[in-house]
Amino acid sequence: MKYDVTVIGSGPGGYVAAIRCAQLGLKTAIIEKYDTLGGTCLNVGCIPSKALLDSSEHYHNAEKRFSTHGIKVTGLKIDMKQMIQRKDDVVSQTTKGIDYLMNKNKITVFHGHGSFESATKISIAKKDGSTETIETDKTIIATGSKPITPASFNYDKKRIITSTEALNITKVPKTMTIIGAGVIGLELGSVYARLGTKVDVVEYADSAIGMMDKDLGKELTRSLKKIGIKFHFKYMVKEVTATATKTKLVAEHRDSKEALSIDAEYCLVAIGRYAYTDKLGLDKVGITTDKRGRIEVDHNLQTNVPGIYAIGDVIKGAMLAHKAEEEGVFVAERMVGQHPHINYNLIPGVVYTWPEVAAVGKTEAELKEAGTPIKVGKFPFKALGRARASMDTEGLVKIISHKETDEVLGVHMVGPRVADIIAEAVTAMEFRASAEDISRMSHAHPTYTEAVKEAALAATDNRPLHI
Ligand code: FAD
Ligand code: NAI
Repeated sequence: MKYDVTVIGSGPGGYVAAIRCAQLGLKTAIIEKYDTLGGTCLNVGCIPSKALLDSSEHYHNAEKRFSTHGIKVTGLKIDMKQMIQRKDDVVSQTTKGIDYLMNKNKITVFHGHGSFESATKISIAKKDGSTETIETDKTIIATGSKPITPASFNYDKKRIITSTEALNITKVPKTMTIIGAGVIGLELGSVYARLGTKVDVVEYADSAIGMMDKDLGKELTRSLKKIGIKFHFKYMVKEVTATATKTKLVAEHRDSKEALSIDAEYCLVAIGRYAYTDKLGLDKVGITTDKRGRIEVDHNLQTNVPGIYAIGDVIKGAMLAHKAEEEGVFVAERMVGQHPHINYNLIPGVVYTWPEVAAVGKTEAELKEAGTPIKVGKFPFKALGRARASMDTEGLVKIISHKETDEVLGVHMVGPRVADIIAEAVTAMEFRASAEDISRMSHAHPTYTEAVKEAALAATDNRPLHI
């Protein structure tokens, strides 16, 4: 069988690319090595982690906040097996949705490990031991990423775990050590801290979520300490070992060299992910990768082999589902001669802790380093009536605009529902709005979005109305 396009990998990059190819009239196949479609995001990433974040937040609110609202709860208990079961149900409904979409768009789905035999021939090794080879005019590699697990961390999937196993623990642990105060560490750390686990986070850098604007890490750390998470910054983890029931982490302070040792039931390794190209046969076709193993692509997201493209976590850039999706659509449209564009500066980043964290555009540090003249407007959620009504007063909105033109260059938020509110900032920046433009738009009262308007007023000429 010959296809116009074959997509290897069915994560948000791959399945979206396949749908767009099919919409554009290309005969499309998709290959996925696992039994379910949807990749990391749907099976062991975005969706299951958010399902557990929601469940644990309900528990936390019932335990810590309901009484202030005048709601008395007795006999509150966690049924962890049910919590995991609900998460599995959410995953299963979502992955079945992808089966439906493949079917609807007449995309041929192959389950098995895909690898290049040549630039136009891909063999699929199936679970039953058989192999099928298909021919294809063009290929999109969307094979994603896997967690980084250094040998000295002795990852055993039982006690020393990654996010994949942390999404399936059926008894609330008493203690958990987390290596890395990045996105995974803080999201899953929040899940377990809310359920009552004593969580210790060990981080090499001097702050949490170090890639984001410094104010966000500071605010979030303060909030997460309140739910019991203990942070150990500036510690380099040297080794992790485990027995059948417990783990031991050994770290060293990067300046003082002071040693740190923590015992816990589980140790979650969350120090980043690497591009996954194992047994893909890249060498057979001569596709090049960079020093970090990511597939090299040009401005069309085409590899050095004509007709073979790569998207998502397996190439450079943020490891985010919506970035992978944009690239999937981009490649499909390029293939048929259209002229799509991705504005990488406007891909928002979100951390689904509570308060949530969301950002788009440049950080204050990046702009200062570039010598861009800026104005900064900030507004705290505690000054909003809506936030007081829901008792979600932690966090702030920070808008950075150009000192002369007032164009918004970066929006950074910690607070209630900012994961959704950031879309306003993306829209405004896509249309190159000024801070004053945002400040003159009506924002419904009372809503959390009023903090955006107020921060824009503060950035325009320091005239917020409610502080
Ligand atoms: P993937 O989703 O990794 O999919 C790649 C697929 O290719 C996999 O199914 C794999 O089995 C398959 N594959 C690999 N090699 C082969 C082969 N040779 N043959 C056949 N199939 C193959 N991002 C967000 O934007 N928001 C979030 O809230 C979020 N939460 C996350 C939470 C966790 C715990 C994790 C781990 C990640 C999270 N991410 C989140 C990141 C997000 O999951 C990834 O950025 C996204 O899945 C990347 O999509 P992709 O299509 O490039 O690859
Ligand atoms: P990350 O890159 O976000 O954070 C890793 C952290 O580990 C960094 O702060 C780093 O300084 C620290 N670190 C590295 N080595 C260390 C060591 N030896 N000792 C102590 N600290 C060490 O990576 P993470 O959290 O694993 O997430 C991987 C990817 O998944 C991210 O790039 C993110 O984009 C994606 N993701 C996105 C989510 C979202 O959009 N909400 C949720 C979860 C993951």
